[in-house]
Amino acid sequence: MNWMNRRQSGWPSPAGGSWPRLAGFLVVVMSAAALSAQTLKYTKRPDAVHGETVYRSGCIACHGDRGAGAAPTSTEFVRPDTFPDFTRCDQTTPEPDINWKATIVHGGPGFGLSTIMPAFGELLSDEDINDVIAYLRTMCTNPHWPRGELNLPRAIVTEKAFPEDEFVLSTAANASGAPGFTTDYIHEQSFGAKTQLEVDLPQHDEDQNHQWQNGIGDITFGLKRVLWSSLRTGSIVAVQGGVLPPTGDSKRGFGAGTTTFEPFVSADQLFRTNTWVQFQMGAELPVDPKKSPQSLFYYTALGQTLAGDHRLGRQWSPMVEFLANRDLLDGAKTDWDVLPEMQVTLSKRQHIRVDLGYRAPFINTAGRQGQVDFYILWDWADGKFWEGW
Ligand code: HEC
Repeated sequence: MNWMNRRQSGWPSPAGGSWPRLAGFLVVVMSAAALSAQTLKYTKRPDAVHGETVYRSGCIACHGDRGAGAAPTSTEFVRPDTFPDFTRCDQTTPEPDINWKATIVHGGPGFGLSTIMPAFGELLSDEDINDVIAYLRTMCTNPHWPRGELNLPRAIVTEKAFPEDEFVLSTAANASGAPGFTTDYIHEQSFGAKTQLEVDLPQHDEDQNHQWQNGIGDITFGLKRVLWSSLRTGSIVAVQGGVLPPTGDSKRGFGAGTTTFEPFVSADQLFRTNTWVQFQMGAELPVDPKKSPQSLFYYTALGQTLAGDHRLGRQWSPMVEFLANRDLLDGAKTDWDVLPEMQVTLSKRQHIRVDLGYRAPFINTAGRQGQVDFYILWDWADGKFWEGW
C-alpha cells in the first residue's frame, strides 16, 4: 500500500512457535464472530409486488409515481440536497438496505437526514418495510452496479474491492524505538459503476538520531476496476494498477528512490452472519530494484459488523488483519504482522467512521516494531462532514 509497510533487508530466521499462537488467535476470533452473529436472513422473502402497494399508499406523495420525486408543485417541502431519486443507480446502489430501513423505521433524523422524511416504524410492519425496500430496488434497472452491502468496513491496511467515494486520514505511529509517524492523506473517487481513482499522499515525521526529519513520501496513483460482484453470493472482486513516482526524499528514507508499480487484486466475501473476509494480494515492483527490492504482499482482514436496535444502530466492526510481505530476493523470509482493530461509525448517517488498531510483528520480527494505527474516514458522497450527526 505504501512505502512504510515495506521492510528492510537481512532478517534472521522466523520466530519458532508462532504458528500455534496464530491458529489459537484465529479460533478465538472466529468463534467470537460466530457467537455474536446477527443473521441477515428474512423470516419471509421480501415481496416487491406487495411493496408497490405500500409505496402507492404511503410514499408516492413525496417520492413520486416513479420514485424520482413528486413534482415540486405538488409537494410543500424544500428538497434537501440528499433527496433521493430511486431510479438513479449511482445514488441508490451504494446504500445498503439496512440504511434505508433505518430511515424508514425511524424517519429522516434517525439516519441523520431531514425531518421531512417521516418515521414509519409504528405504521408499517417489519415485513411491509422489507417489501417496500424490495420495490424501491426494482427502480434501478442496471444490474451492473455493485451493491453497497458489499462495501465492507475499511481495514487499516488491506484494501477492499468496492469502489468508494471517500477521504481518509490515516496515521501509523511507532509504538517503541525512535518516535516516528506516517500520515496518509487518501482520496478515493468512483467513476461510473465499476471504476475508482485513488491518490495517496504520505507524510513522514521521524526522529532520526535525535533530529526530527519530515517530508512527503512516494505518492500513489491507483486505478481500480471491479471485475465481478454478486449480492446473492456476497462476493466482489477487483483489480488495481498503481504507480508511485519517486516524490519522496529517499535519502532520508521517505521513498523508494525509483518509480514503483503496484498491481494488486482484492477479493471480498460477506457471509449471512454479517461476518466477512477481505483478501488483497499484489506486488511492489520498483523500476530499479537496486534502489529498493521488489516484493510481494498478501493481506487478509477478517471481521464482523455488530449493531444494536435490530442492526439499525451504530455499527461496531471488530476485525483482525494478517499481513505478509516478502522481498523477491534469494533467501528472503516472509514478514508477518497481525493487526487487531475496531472500526466504529460516528455520525448517524454513518458517513464518518474511525478505526483504531495495533500492528504487531509476528513472524520474522527482528528489527521491526509495533505500530499504533488510526484513521478517520469521510464518505463525502453521503453529505458534508458536519451534516448528518
Ligand atoms: C412527507 C414526504 C415523504 C414521505 C411521505 C415519504 N418520504 Fe421518504 N424521504 C422524504 C425526504 C424529503 C427524503 C430526503 C431526506 C434527506 O435526504 O434529508 C426522504 C428520504 C427517504 C429515503 C432515504 C434515501 C437515501 O438516499 O438515503 C428512503 C429510503 C425513503 N425516503 C423511503 C420512503 C418510503 C419507503 C416511504 C413510504 C413508506 C417514504 N419514504 C415516504 C420525504 C418523504
